[in-house]
Amino acid sequence: MKNLSNSLFWRLSLFFLVILFVISGVYIYTTHNSSLVYSQETSQRLNRPLAERVAKFTKPFIDGSINEEEVEKLFHNVMVLNPSVEVYLLDEAGKILSYYAPFGEVKLERLNLDPIHQFIDNKEVFIKGEDPRNPGLQKIFSAAGILDNERTVGYIYIILASEEYTSVTDMLAHNYQIKLATKAVLITFFAAIIIGFFVIWYLTKNINKISVAVNRFKQGDLKTRIRLESKGELSVLANNIDAMADTIVSNINEIRSVEKLRKELISNISHDLRTPLTSIQGYAETLVLLEEKLDKKTKIKYLNTILSSTQRVKKMVENLFEISKLEAHQVETKKETFSINELLSDMVMKFDLMAKSKSIDFKINVADNNILVFADIALMERVFQNLLENALNHTREGGTVQIAIKNNSASSIEVTIKDTGVGISSEELPYIFDRYKKGAYGTHKGTGLGLAIVKKILELHKLDIKVESELNVGTSFSFRLPVYS
Ligand SMILES: Nc1ncnc2c1ncn2[C@@H]1O[C@H](COP(=O)(O)OP(=O)(O)OP(=O)(O)O)[C@@H](O)[C@H]1O
Ligand SMILES: [Mg+2]
Repeated sequence: MKNLSNSLFWRLSLFFLVILFVISGVYIYTTHNSSLVYSQETSQRLNRPLAERVAKFTKPFIDGSINEEEVEKLFHNVMVLNPSVEVYLLDEAGKILSYYAPFGEVKLERLNLDPIHQFIDNKEVFIKGEDPRNPGLQKIFSAAGILDNERTVGYIYIILASEEYTSVTDMLAHNYQIKLATKAVLITFFAAIIIGFFVIWYLTKNINKISVAVNRFKQGDLKTRIRLESKGELSVLANNIDAMADTIVSNINEIRSVEKLRKELISNISHDLRTPLTSIQGYAETLVLLEEKLDKKTKIKYLNTILSSTQRVKKMVENLFEISKLEAHQVETKKETFSINELLSDMVMKFDLMAKSKSIDFKINVADNNILVFADIALMERVFQNLLENALNHTREGGTVQIAIKNNSASSIEVTIKDTGVGISSEELPYIFDRYKKGAYGTHKGTGLGLAIVKKILELHKLDIKVESELNVGTSFSFRLPVYS
């Protein structure tokens, strides 16, 4: 991680350094250009009237031909006063008639008059004209027409920055700009290094913080969180990583608790299966060993015990199978419309014998009209079976078990299974729907899975079950079933 942050740091630094050099280059180039234009424009403005004055105070033509003496004097005077200029005398068509220029030769014979006319016509314009010595090069100038009886007979054309002048200013500008550039680049460079270092350090600091926390989490410190205080993209990333860590931790906890339940389940199953199996084995062995010594009545008693233990094992295995399928979401409800009265009548028939054997008053209080409900009929049958089995098992001889239906709503009915049995203590009541929860007061030896199955089936139907109970008074379970409309 250290390497990564370092390389990111250096890559960012290099990137900014390149940007810095490019910006410096652009800066130098633009300053150079604008300072050049500035000095040229200033020079042209200041020297604008030069050609006009020269034209006013001299008469270079006499009767249409050049006055050589006058022209020489003129050139001489101008050059003495201002040696940085070059003076040209043009005829009315732009042809160079005479000139005074100290260096090099003149290569152009004729000059373009357009810039000269523009200069004369517009007093404000910044304009460049041809340099007779360097065809293709543009220079600042001053120009004026020479008038003879109101008629333009020629032009005075003065190049303001002569070659000598230009070479000197160029050299000075060059030196000056190198100094300026070096200063500017150095100042910017140090400022950028200081600012850049802090900015990059600030950015990589948070990235480092994230990477350290992620690394710690990876190594098993599940409590580690980033908790970035600053705002922005990085804190969004950090918050998301924190949220992800929370999810991972809660998933791990869930897996752990499921694993704990699974272990409990296995130990409960093996314990519960061992009891009936031991009794089956014990009685069967006794029957085999003492076969001749035992009388018929005892043998039947032993065989009945074996039979009931076998039934218990069978019921346990069935219940386990059912609850594990329900818990693994392998059971799908196949909802259909059926008559609740018919289902309950069937249930009464099924449990009538059991009720009679215990002299329990088993009543059903169904609604008058035939109510149709919408649910999975097979699963509902299982719900009633478990609840009625519990009610009959926990009610003493002479007690009452009653099924009642209330249709006090258009969309659902309320089913209640009520008994006058042993009841459930308030300490036990919250846990009776848990797997393997068996009451301490019941005489019946069940698997403790019946109510867990009931709850799961009703959950599949998105239904809730309520229980009310009082010790030695009785218990009632009730839930609502949707009515078919
Ligand atoms: N109607 C009831 N009256 C009194 N106690 C009850 C009643 N119904 C349930 N209980 C208590 O709740 C416990 C859990 O019931 P549950 O049906 O889940 O298991 P079980 O009846 O013991 O076993 P199984 O139903 O698997 O044979 C019972 O052991 C019992 O103590
Ligand atoms: Mg039960």
